[in-house]
Amino acid sequence: MTVLKESTFRRFQSLMHETVGLDFPHSKRPLINARLSPRLAQLGMPSFEAYYELISGPNDGGEFQMTVDLLTTNETYFFREPAHYELLAKELSRERPRAVSVWSAASSFGDEAYSTAMLLADLKAQGQIGEDWQILATDISDRVLRSAMQAVYPEERLRQVSAERRRRYCLRGFGPSEGLAQIHPKLRERVRFGWLNLSKPMEDLGPFDVIFLRNVLIYFDAGTKSQVVDRVLSQLRPGGLFFIGTAEGRPVCNTPLQAISHGAFRKLAS
Ligand SMILES: C[S@@+](CC[C@H](N)C(=O)[O-])C[C@H]1O[C@@H](n2cnc3c(N)ncnc32)[C@H](O)[C@@H]1O
Repeated sequence: MTVLKESTFRRFQSLMHETVGLDFPHSKRPLINARLSPRLAQLGMPSFEAYYELISGPNDGGEFQMTVDLLTTNETYFFREPAHYELLAKELSRERPRAVSVWSAASSFGDEAYSTAMLLADLKAQGQIGEDWQILATDISDRVLRSAMQAVYPEERLRQVSAERRRRYCLRGFGPSEGLAQIHPKLRERVRFGWLNLSKPMEDLGPFDVIFLRNVLIYFDAGTKSQVVDRVLSQLRPGGLFFIGTAEGRPVCNTPLQAISHGAFRKLAS
């Protein structure tokens, strides 16, 4: 069995921090060891040192991305934290905007973006918002983005989607695809996916009316966390809605925010 030496752990630690902003305190050494050991065995790598050379070099063959995937979690599901979607529906029904632009900023497999698409399509059908609505979904993992673009999900993942919405917005698989559902093209055409590293400066993408930055801040240290929050909030219009995970507390940042409810904020004009 390969062993992650202290000196090699520190090299992994700074590589992950400098490139993707991920924070692995010393207590996470056993976790890195446990998550990466099976991958080393699968690749026939003799040591963590050899694996480090591979992922930090120019010809990693996509292995660096694999390491990020193994060290973070992509867990997500449709209508996670439903109170956020209820709040969004309430706010939009009150404002009745002609156009709505949303960013799902750590989208994982796309569940959050497609849940929002279902909600916006419903609001459009009820005449609460205009025809012009769209969603941008980004993540650092190519693997989850490829899957999100396919938009095929085990029905289990759709457990929080009402039967009525499933009928309207999902195509049920049959035969070998039994138990799977694909999001309807009329929603898929409203969602664009792209690769984006939140821990680095980014081009202008917005301004957005709504931003979801949920369940990703946990990976960053305090300094990176507030930089990421301010960077993301610079893409939100004043008055726009900002969602983080309900268990993530109030974000420490320089952008003025008004708390609305757990994990939900409004950006104030500065
Ligand atoms: C737990 S998922 C959250 C998915 C969704 N927002 C939700 O709440 O269900 C966290 C996602 O953050 C992504 N991620 C981690 N570090 C990132 C970074 N530096 N930039 C962009 N995405 C990152 C991971 O690839 C993963 O898909």
